[in-house]
Amino acid sequence: MGRVAGKVALVTGGASGMGRADALLLAAEGAKVVVTDFNVQDGQAVADQIGGDAIFLPLNVTDEDNWKSVIATTVETFGALDILVNNAGMMIMGNVLDTSLEDWRKVNAVNSDGVFLGCKHAIPAMAASGGGSIVNMSSVAAISGQSFVAAYTASKGAVRSFTKSVAMFCKEQKNGVRCNSVHPDGVKTPMVVKVALGKETATQEDIDMVGKAGNMCDPEDVANLVLFLASDESRFITGAEMLIDNASTITPPISM
Ligand SMILES: NC(=O)c1ccc[n+]([C@@H]2O[C@H](COP(=O)([O-])OP(=O)(O)OC[C@H]3O[C@@H](n4cnc5c(N)ncnc54)[C@H](O)[C@@H]3O)[C@@H](O)[C@H]2O)c1
Repeated sequence: MGRVAGKVALVTGGASGMGRADALLLAAEGAKVVVTDFNVQDGQAVADQIGGDAIFLPLNVTDEDNWKSVIATTVETFGALDILVNNAGMMIMGNVLDTSLEDWRKVNAVNSDGVFLGCKHAIPAMAASGGGSIVNMSSVAAISGQSFVAAYTASKGAVRSFTKSVAMFCKEQKNGVRCNSVHPDGVKTPMVVKVALGKETATQEDIDMVGKAGNMCDPEDVANLVLFLASDESRFITGAEMLIDNASTITPPISM
């Protein structure tokens, strides 16, 4: 019996990196998975790889009408929505001085607005079937700040505090929906290659090289945490910020 057997899970940004690993693991543990992404080709390939019940739906997380139709199609197809992994994200390099307003808005539209829209439209669908679990992908940037990605840091900070607002709201409503944020440090995905090497596309070799140099974890390490938060094993955990950072956010004591 899988750890999320029979549950219906929607994953955003499921075409690549952590979203792909989340979709594969949730499916392996018995969930019916809706893979979504605005990268149609790679997203469809992930759904095809899973096979069985899995479907792919195109979703740009910044588009509210797109969210409404994807959630409606999910419920029509599978009869419920139990798990939402708000994973889609992007990063643009730049500190507070060299980030343009345009780039600030672009990053916040995906990372912050996208999570807001996902929660807003998933909660009623989840509540209708007795509850569910929302996992919002944040970052260590939300905990300790990162000077070289100002807009990204702000967007992930928004995800961190918004998650607590959603958790409190759902608790007040007694609707059975939980909401937690996940805060990884470096993870071996195409995103870190784009940042570290400035390349638009990443080969597995690039990912391995950057990951090794940065002592990073694998997408599957994060997927294991997502699975736990998605499953009923974490039924008393809501509003939590879960670090997966190999202690990178702990400041060493002064004596060290
Ligand atoms: N890789 C890391 O080191 C790291 C660390 C902490 C947090 N994160 C976060 O983890 C999440 C996954 O990142 P990843 O490292 O797997 O990156 P990735 O680039 O491999 O995957 C991101 C996915 O999001 C999709 N996406 C981007 N904009 C979208 C939009 N508007 N609508 C729909 N899909 C969109 C992309 O097409 C891609 O498939 C992101 O939120 C990222 O900020 C990554």
